[in-house]
Amino acid sequence: MKELKPVKQAISASRLCKNYETSFGKVTVLDGVEFEVDEGGFTVLGGLSGSGKTTLLNIISGIDKPTSGKLLVYGENLTAKSEDFLSNFRCSNVGYVFQSYNLVSTLTVAENIAFPMEWLKKPAQPSKTVWKNS
Ligand SMILES: Nc1ncnc2c1ncn2[C@@H]1O[C@H](COP(=O)(O)OP(=O)(O)OP(=O)(O)O)[C@@H](O)[C@H]1O
Ligand SMILES: [Mg+2]
Repeated sequence: MKELKPVKQAISASRLCKNYETSFGKVTVLDGVEFEVDEGGFTVLGGLSGSGKTTLLNIISGIDKPTSGKLLVYGENLTAKSEDFLSNFRCSNVGYVFQSYNLVSTLTVAENIAFPMEWLKKPAQPSKTVWKNS
């Protein structure tokens, strides 16, 4: 039998909480969220509108920080990192399709895709596909 390899933990969240301060007072969106995702896993996050899916994804991807709790992504405790670290972390590791697209409207489709490569100072590989704006 083939030897089994230990599974690496990609994400580990413990006691994650997120509150928003609004003009109507404090809104608690995440209240002690705990979960783990193994490397290579495929995970679906479900819930009613307003239940906090985007809030949680923003925290996992380093866009936002929790009010309290701990989040490890490949061993990095993202809750303790600077904005500079998080910018580089997102650019190098995170692929995120936003609920609202957040594209730079003055750039073409190809330029929007290549833009993060400029941040990383890596030349974008020329594509065999020709992108055209409609
Ligand atoms: N910046 C903010 N300030 C105050 N409240 C916020 C903020 N962002 C989100 N919320 C509130 O947090 C709750 C969760 O919002 P979130 O966008 O995470 O939900 P969702 O599960 O992604 O919803 P949907 O399925 O509609 O996309 C909602 O009640 C929302 O109004
Ligand atoms: Mg959402």
